Amino acid sequence: MNFGYFDDSNREYVIETPKTPYPWINYLGSESFFGLVSNTAGGYAFYKDAKLRRLTRYRYNDVPVDSGGRYYYIKDNDTVWNPGWMPTKTELDRYECRHGMGYTKFTSSKNQLRCELTMMVPNDYNGEVHQMKLTNDSSMDKVIDLYSLVEFCLWDASDDMTNFQRNYSTGEVEVEESVIYHKTEFRERRDHYAFFSMNQNINSFETDRDTFLGAFNGYDKPEAVNGELKNSIASGWHPIGSHHKKIELKPDEEISIIFILGYTETKEKFTSANVINKAPAQKMIDAFKTDEQFEKAFLELKHKWDGLLAPFSIDSDDEKLNRMVNIWNPYQCMVTFNMSRSASYFESGIGRGMGFRDSNQDILGFVHQIPEKAKERILDIAATQFEDGSAYHQYQPLTKKGNDAIGSGFNDDPCWLIMATAAYIKETGDFEILKEEVVFENDPNKVGTLYDHLNASFYHVVNNKGPHGLPLIGRADWNDCLNLNCHSTEPGESFQTSGTADGRVAESVFIAGLFAFTGKDFVEMSRYLGKDKEADEAKQHIEEMKETVMTHGYDGEWFLRAYDAFGEKIGSHENDEGKIYIEPQGFCVMSGMGIDDGRALKALDSVKEHLDTKYGIVLNQPAYTKYHPELGEISSYPPGYKENAGIFCHNNPWIACAEAEVGRGTRAFEVYKRIAPAYLEEISDVHKTEPYVYSQMITGKDGVHFGQAKNSWLTGTASWNYITITQWILGIQPDYKGLKINPCIPADLKSYSVNRTFRGCTYQISFDNSAGVEKGVKSIVVDNKKIEGHHLPLFDDQKTHKVVVTMG
Ligand code: GLC
Ligand code: GLC
Repeated sequence: MNFGYFDDSNREYVIETPKTPYPWINYLGSESFFGLVSNTAGGYAFYKDAKLRRLTRYRYNDVPVDSGGRYYYIKDNDTVWNPGWMPTKTELDRYECRHGMGYTKFTSSKNQLRCELTMMVPNDYNGEVHQMKLTNDSSMDKVIDLYSLVEFCLWDASDDMTNFQRNYSTGEVEVEESVIYHKTEFRERRDHYAFFSMNQNINSFETDRDTFLGAFNGYDKPEAVNGELKNSIASGWHPIGSHHKKIELKPDEEISIIFILGYTETKEKFTSANVINKAPAQKMIDAFKTDEQFEKAFLELKHKWDGLLAPFSIDSDDEKLNRMVNIWNPYQCMVTFNMSRSASYFESGIGRGMGFRDSNQDILGFVHQIPEKAKERILDIAATQFEDGSAYHQYQPLTKKGNDAIGSGFNDDPCWLIMATAAYIKETGDFEILKEEVVFENDPNKVGTLYDHLNASFYHVVNNKGPHGLPLIGRADWNDCLNLNCHSTEPGESFQTSGTADGRVAESVFIAGLFAFTGKDFVEMSRYLGKDKEADEAKQHIEEMKETVMTHGYDGEWFLRAYDAFGEKIGSHENDEGKIYIEPQGFCVMSGMGIDDGRALKALDSVKEHLDTKYGIVLNQPAYTKYHPELGEISSYPPGYKENAGIFCHNNPWIACAEAEVGRGTRAFEVYKRIAPAYLEEISDVHKTEPYVYSQMITGKDGVHFGQAKNSWLTGTASWNYITITQWILGIQPDYKGLKINPCIPADLKSYSVNRTFRGCTYQISFDNSAGVEKGVKSIVVDNKKIEGHHLPLFDDQKTHKVVVTMG
């Protein structure tokens, strides 16, 4: 069942009913100021850090699920309604919500009054700007009352929800003309305040929540939405911003209003006793006084996205493929770059910081869009690494320092830094990054080059092997829930940080595969730096690791997952539950293991036989039905959810990549399509989350709600699927020497073309697969000349070059 449709020419998803199975959200902002906005105008805004600089409140776990947002109430005679339907839930005569690239637009109408409300965070601007157009479509004069509402958060979103004994006494506001200033704690240690403005004269306002709502009401029935407001000035309790304007509209008449929810910092704090310096806010307000200013900024935002999406576009007969590759997948990759795992409708914004492994993997998906930012991110991440190569598992975006509370010991972490750096160099050709000085542990006395960091990463695996010669797992590897050294029996204890990180027995076959896969890049990068000895040695270690896996890590028909702390196999046919896991099948095959002797194919066939479902590939089978302290969190989830046999989307693309590695393009594409949101639009009722972005998890076949997704938006799934489709399947592969052409596609995909901007030129590449093969390039012609090999020549001339690839 559909709840809307894709409008590809506008790059929008158009939602036609507010009653989606779950709030379907969008993100505003892409630099410092961000807003989350749902299809009923719910959500919240923050500056840089969703925990520490929160502008507006959001109540988690609330009923109804999405309450709290920026709400506008329109009172037209006796009817009170909202452009986004919530919170009054007055039935609308028309409703439409368009989520676009960095903006959201509502069009609704009731009793022949039409409202068009567009919300965006303009480029280089620290605020949400809302343009509201009200049109009288009736044949009679209308007199309406318009009320705005935001509820301010007292900055620290976590403290705001817990420390009431203090917070109910600290709230302060000021009002001047049509602007409501939220200045809690500004008098003391803060140098920032928020404001909520309207570009028109107002009739009245409210800043005290209880005065606006009434002591016993929710947002759905504010007592004050009934005439003039009382001009309350909040003192403690709950500061809000609400403007009221009486509007008269003749038939066909339209009024346009601009609201701004802004954030500003200032060193000169006061103009007189406790009167804040409003100059910086005024400057922001002046930037959006008129519709012309708004429309210009809207176009600039659009151009920004044109630029961000330009480096890669596909034209094929499959419109779902086109919209995933051209619009929604890269859009989601940019959001994961901005948010990491901090703020979504499943991540509270007050929890974890940035993940070492997560952030490295996110880079894979956006490096071609913003290579300079990818470089900055790589260097930031590397600076949190320890000298022995291990890494802080998480770090804080504001301080960029590692989190002591979680510490290190996730033994896959170091490898991802190699992969991210390699991706950056392959995209840009900038080997100089390897010579950049980067500290270890954020300690100015511990300086190395980025290459030293990668070397430390590589040898962290080599130096930490277990009894079989496989990498020790530590607290966990990619699968955060496989906690082989924890053995927790205490409720509430962390599975990740309790128990020891340095168990010397439990080993991970997954890390072995990851190491062999990304180790190849370490070898190549070493060679480019002229470090042949280092390269040869590293190559030797990789070869050894591969042999070790084939000796101790293959179970007959698939790769084993791990050995536990007692040396027992995990992911083996000998186990009762959890006989086979997805992760090592992907990475071991991607690294080339078992390809020459058929064991790779066998492993992938086993995935198909044991783990495939109609909604995607589950993580393991059979699901754990009992709690196993020796395995940890994985067995704590009911069967079919999360890491316990859920369809954990992040690792499905590894199977597609592995299938491409063995040349089975039809199957690779089938795996890709099965979880790609655009292909699931018609089962939106089952799937529940947004049909335009990936979710972290879809319930597996053992779960009660098979096919139902959770945790949309912030997941490594976005970047992995992006490189799976663009590089592994469609075959446009950035490489050290240039762009390599190496497609592995479904046999019935007869042609497609790709525009790819790369190192200073644009390649217009058309693929001719009239031969109907899955893999194999017969010829490549560039600007009418046949070339040898698979690498396109580099031009750096800012021009467009025509490439014809004939498969066969
Ligand atoms: C979550 C984590 C990620 C981990 C995955 C599997 O998505 O953010 O780091 O790899 O779960 O456990
Ligand atoms: C929980 C989640 C997992 C996530 C981890 C982060 O274990 O299930 O997905 O990666 O927390 O620490």
